[in-house]
Amino acid sequence: MRILSGIQPSGSLHLGNYFGMMKKMIDYQEQGELFCFIANYHAMTSVSDGKALATGTLEAAANFLALGMDPERSTFWVQSDVPEVQELAWFLSNFTPMGLLERCHSYKDKIAKGIAANHGLFAYPVLMSADILLFNSDKVPVGKDQKQHVEVTRDIAIKVNNEYGEIFTVPEPDIDDDVATVPGLDGQKMSKSYGNTIDLFQDEKNLRKQIMRIVTDPTPVEDPKDPDNCNVFQIYRLFLDKQQQEALRQRYLAGGLGYGEVKQELFETVRDYFTPFTERRNALLEDKDTLRKTLEMGAQKARYAASKVMRKVRKKSGIAY
Ligand code: ADP
Ligand code: TRP
Repeated sequence: MRILSGIQPSGSLHLGNYFGMMKKMIDYQEQGELFCFIANYHAMTSVSDGKALATGTLEAAANFLALGMDPERSTFWVQSDVPEVQELAWFLSNFTPMGLLERCHSYKDKIAKGIAANHGLFAYPVLMSADILLFNSDKVPVGKDQKQHVEVTRDIAIKVNNEYGEIFTVPEPDIDDDVATVPGLDGQKMSKSYGNTIDLFQDEKNLRKQIMRIVTDPTPVEDPKDPDNCNVFQIYRLFLDKQQQEALRQRYLAGGLGYGEVKQELFETVRDYFTPFTERRNALLEDKDTLRKTLEMGAQKARYAASKVMRKVRKKSGIAY
């Protein structure tokens, strides 16, 4: 089974990215053939500062490698290092009804927020479809917000297959309901764009500050508290196994547990969990030549896999003449 996903290099990583996507991807290395890339073309829809994009791309690669991506065992690359993806996106555009893209929530939400409606933003799901179909992916782990884009990919793949025979694998989205949406400090979805994140790679002082900002209700310390409606609990549980979750739940229900106390515990837990990863990430970023070599090797593996699909696409479409 081939599992594929990508992450945009825009900005620093937060717990939502980690539990919603990265950790799952890293764990997938045990279960199948993993394809994972840094979506720097997609990031162009929101980042126009070239320097920031270049730095962000290398940092994103270091993040993934530090968190456990194994570049030997998996195929790990930067999207733009496999230019075939743009060729395939153009091919797919010709099988993508306007209505399909016009219905995309992600596009509509961005427009509603006042982001200029340009073609990159509109065609975003087509490029994402190319990412997925170029590698015959079976399974695509994504957060809930990206599910519709995988459905668009399926629609396009089926349309092409109807026209040309089975050239694409029709992928399945893979959403883990347990961590489908990680809540942010204010209980909304944790997201860079809402400024409500807990970031992975940062110093202790700032981490503590972020955690202390988690919004809680004014229930007095001595009263019983509802863990299911508590943002601290909802974040803390991501680090706990079932038994530990139950124990914490009982402490909430018993009363006498202050939010300050549980936030301090959460802070220590997050810090201890990410400290070794942060050290590895910093070491990777200090040796950029080696980092670039690792990415080059990944791109070679990815291009080899892509060439098989592209041969079929070019032949069937008549682009190979
Ligand atoms: P952001 O919302 O902060 O801009 P991205 O859109 O860059 O995050 O998301 C990158 C990946 O992380 C995607 O697969 C997305 O679905 C996942 N993700 C982001 N935020 C969350 C969250 N709060 N809960 C679960 N998954 C998330
Ligand atoms: N759109 C995804 C996001 O913002 C990133 C992405 C690009 C992706 N191409 C992909 C995810 C292909 C899965 C498969 O999170």
